Amino acid sequence: MTDGPANVPQKVPHHVAIIMDGNGRWAQQRGLSRLKGHEQGAESVRAVMKGARNHGVRILTLYAFSVENWSRPAAEVNGLMNLLPRFLRKHEHLLHENGTRLRAIGRLNDLPANTRKDLFRVMADTEAYTERQLVLALSYGGRAELTDAVRALARKVKAGELDPEAIEPETFAGELYAPDLPDPDFMIRTSGEQRISNFLLWQLSYAELYFAPELWPDFREEQFAEAMRVYAGRQRRFGGVASC
Ligand code: IPE
Ligand code: IPE
Ligand code: MG
Repeated sequence: MTDGPANVPQKVPHHVAIIMDGNGRWAQQRGLSRLKGHEQGAESVRAVMKGARNHGVRILTLYAFSVENWSRPAAEVNGLMNLLPRFLRKHEHLLHENGTRLRAIGRLNDLPANTRKDLFRVMADTEAYTERQLVLALSYGGRAELTDAVRALARKVKAGELDPEAIEPETFAGELYAPDLPDPDFMIRTSGEQRISNFLLWQLSYAELYFAPELWPDFREEQFAEAMRVYAGRQRRFGGVASC
């Protein structure tokens, strides 16, 4: 067998971050409630977790609920807050089977107690896994995260523990919600919208961006595989010069 291009190992992003957008439109197109769209979107989460594992992606960060999403109608917010623990209870076995640690970033104290309960339980139960990580961005906002980091640094300066002149990008990054996580290599947004919507403002500095036309409930393993093919064809430069 010759070593054709199909046998060349593909570049795989270590950390993929996804803005899961389009659940509402998916439901609307079918005359269903927005919540039905979110329920179908949860199935895409399961599919993408599988796809990520099969492609060798180690870290998957999913934008599940933004700080701005609290402004949605109460019924939708409550529906989403109930969907999360239901999803976790149904699929936590997958985390154990795949050695996946569940983590969360965001203003988690804003979440209702019953949502937090299952979230924190599953995070604790999977804490020891090192193979893969699933990071849920919940009540997350990039500006909120940066503001929280500034507050933490300011408190240290005030306490005399930190010299302002000693603050470097690394010092700042050390105050982010999950400071040990490497930056995402690849950011996918579904539903054709081409914006960041306050997601990982610091961490996406050099991420490759990909905007998929499919609505999130239609984004399954095949669409994820296509995104992986696109990433493999990208050339990253990090401000340097192209290598050939
Ligand atoms: C993304 O889908 C899910 C959340 C933001 C929670 P949307 O609910 O934003 O769906 P569209 O954008 O209205 O179609
Ligand atoms: C971003 O989607 C947030 C999540 C996917 C959780 P939105 O639907 O809230 O973003 P905008 O309003 O279109 O920018
Ligand atoms: Mg949306």
